[in-house]
Amino acid sequence: MRLVLLGPPGAGKGTQAKKIIKDWEVVHISTGDLFRANIKNETELGKKVKAYLDRGQLVPDELTIALLWDRLDRDDTRKGYILDGFPRTLAQAKALDEGLKERGQALDGALALEVPFDVLVPRLSGRRVCPECGASFHIKDQPPKKEGVCDFCGHELIHRDDDQESTVAQRIQVYENATAPLLHFYKDQGKLIEVDGNQPVDRVAEEVHQALQKIQ
Ligand code: AP5
Repeated sequence: MRLVLLGPPGAGKGTQAKKIIKDWEVVHISTGDLFRANIKNETELGKKVKAYLDRGQLVPDELTIALLWDRLDRDDTRKGYILDGFPRTLAQAKALDEGLKERGQALDGALALEVPFDVLVPRLSGRRVCPECGASFHIKDQPPKKEGVCDFCGHELIHRDDDQESTVAQRIQVYENATAPLLHFYKDQGKLIEVDGNQPVDRVAEEVHQALQKIQ
């Protein structure tokens, strides 16, 4: 299965991707995670992209598309993958289609999580993530057993810099302008699958599972 996950910041893309990969044995590829790993490791790419992430702006298409293909062309993607956070612009969506075509492949679907914007700020301002193993928590809705500490690896949890309220507002604006048009792009291709993301996590996961069974 080759799937794209769409939705505004905080829609639950990462949360649902972690559930989908267990059901379908595919790999989870998040361009946000790849950029953060490069920043943490202080690579050349990390130095180039840090300011964009800090400001809640998109990394230029050229850098993002190159990073994506570098990851997609690895062996572990043969059984399929979920792209979380890519594409985010029309140019990225077209580059993905063209690259897949050159490889004799195609996307199976684009799954959009629909969540009203007023729900996103509290979700992200309460999110705490583990920089070590990638686990995600929420201080009210899904608190770790011990405050500030990852349940899975014991590392200290962090509040992402771009989850501060003013940066979240900027990210939502960027989503509306650059990424929301992709809903029409995939609808026109007959690939758009819409799921209500404003429900409890397990209910969303159930609806996602049912929707994906139809395209397999
Ligand atoms: P990225 O890391 O992709 O951030 P994002 O898309 O803004 O998504 P998030 O990770 O913030 O949210 P999510 O939808 O995964 O929600 P989550 O499941 O964690 O990108 C960061 C930056 O990298 C971008 O701003 C940009 O600079 C750059 N970038 C990345 N890709 C790029 C690209 N293709 N092109 C250019 N630049 C790019 O959930 C959020 C919270 O809500 C959690 O606390 C969770 O517990 C909670 N939650 C989840 N589901 C529910 C639910 N159903 N009910 C209640 N709470 C829930």
